Amino acid sequence: MTVILRDKAALRTWRAKVTPETRIGFVPTMGALHEGHMSLMARAREAADLVIASIFVNPLQFGPNEDLSRYPRPIEADIDKLERAGVDALFLPSVEDMYPEGASTLVEETLVSGPLCGAMRPGHFRGVTTVVLKLFNLVQPHVAVFGQKDAQQCAVIERMVRDLDIPVEILRGPIVREPDGLALSSRNVYLSAEDRAAAPLIHKSLQTVAAAYQAGERDAEKLAQIGLDVLAQSDRIKVQYWEVRDPESLGAITQIGARGALLAVAAYLGATRLIDNLLLGGDA
Ligand code: PAJ
Repeated sequence: MTVILRDKAALRTWRAKVTPETRIGFVPTMGALHEGHMSLMARAREAADLVIASIFVNPLQFGPNEDLSRYPRPIEADIDKLERAGVDALFLPSVEDMYPEGASTLVEETLVSGPLCGAMRPGHFRGVTTVVLKLFNLVQPHVAVFGQKDAQQCAVIERMVRDLDIPVEILRGPIVREPDGLALSSRNVYLSAEDRAAAPLIHKSLQTVAAAYQAGERDAEKLAQIGLDVLAQSDRIKVQYWEVRDPESLGAITQIGARGALLAVAAYLGATRLIDNLLLGGDA
């Protein structure tokens, strides 16, 4: 049975009963759970004795013109999936409980949050770091699992944990994809049939660039152009960015060297914004 903890008080009571030698694994989510989320639950299960997930659609990380109000919230189906996966507990707080009136403190990582999605979505990562630190303080997990699907989010959280001495180990789970390569996302349900058919080009653009890298191309600008050329095959895809970046700092690079690179892409299909990425190993 998955215990459902509907507020901070219930979570604290549950947490206080966990014995000190029990390792807690935590998977924070915004719900509309799919196989990508569930792979993180399985990873947490391997790394810990007790697995707790959270579902909280965090208003702080959505911009004024983003999809907060229409974000999918199939809570019964989500609980069912967690039950079947043997997740021990679900933290399901309300917005009022998480952000009581007058809350005026934000947590901001100021380097890794800057480029890519940070530049396109002002305040987004500040919303993520604020809620994730609150969740860490409440759950007090030994290990927390995040998806490589949101590579920049992983990098930002790893920085925050390091910089603020948060006693939690961060694990990254690999990207889970549809058979045609589209990365699973709660937002894929928004896609029209035509946009869904075009969407695998995003992954194809990453693979094409990886192949060019394998064949010896190291010039970041040339590689990004190869990716853009693949996406140009569909006029339904409006590219927001296609970047070759340092895998850790996410800073700009001109050549891929020993540290390898993160290939990162964000694109609109209709009103739906999709992101994907691929890590290239370095020469070292
Ligand atoms: P959400 O988008 O629900 O994602 C929850 C976790 O699932 C994240 O770590 C994300 O990277 C991972 N995930 C999503 N799609 C995946 C896929 N196809 N394969 C593997 N993992 C995948 O990310 C958030 O929520 C929020 O920002 C949150 C961290 C919960 C803070 O509000």
